[in-house]
Amino acid sequence: MKNATGKLEEIFLDGSARITCPPEMIPAPGQYLLAHAHGSDSPVPVPLFSSVVHPQNGFRSAPEIQSLWKPGDTLHLRGPIGRGFSIPASARKITLIAFDTLPFRLLGLIGHALKQFAEVTLVCDERMENLPEVVEIQPLKGFTDAYQWSDYTAIDINRENIFQLKEKLEGMEQVRSQREAQVLLRAPMPCGGIAECGTCALSLKNEWKQICKDGPVFHLKELM
Ligand code: FES
Repeated sequence: MKNATGKLEEIFLDGSARITCPPEMIPAPGQYLLAHAHGSDSPVPVPLFSSVVHPQNGFRSAPEIQSLWKPGDTLHLRGPIGRGFSIPASARKITLIAFDTLPFRLLGLIGHALKQFAEVTLVCDERMENLPEVVEIQPLKGFTDAYQWSDYTAIDINRENIFQLKEKLEGMEQVRSQREAQVLLRAPMPCGGIAECGTCALSLKNEWKQICKDGPVFHLKELM
């Protein structure tokens, strides 16, 4: 994990931002940076996930940047932090599911999937611009079909909704037999593990985990 300085170059209408930073600071899909704007009154840094990567000089963040930030702000960055997604090299049918949000945190996986000649289905209820034509879009109500079709699934979900996910998948044979499914859990992560604040705590099979550093990406089997 490193510290570096970045710059907020542009804020888009959807609330995402283009951020320039050294290439080694760009978070891989599922990982994040903690960012603090220079001169900001807020003592709490903001987790930044990437959606689109510009390999030479930065990335476009998923929305959720601080509303007080503005283009030109200098950002103090720490990271990349946490366990990100990892697509098995053998995966050829990949489903990305934005369970209760927009799919920005999953978009970075599309390029990786296409590089290994996988078919990609994106499950979400929002219309997304600028996706490669080969990506099939399915509404959330088709979520279980898309899940069963895939040999790798990545899911983005709020920590509070895990039980809903479990309910929908309960009894599906694929949960046990599928080669790989990973889940990005969203939760407030103010300290990134440094202060052991406990805000991101998760109880897993009678054991406490910290989403900020044990995740934020977990294997689905760990959650079931
Ligand atoms: S954010 Fe503080 S322990 Fe995870």
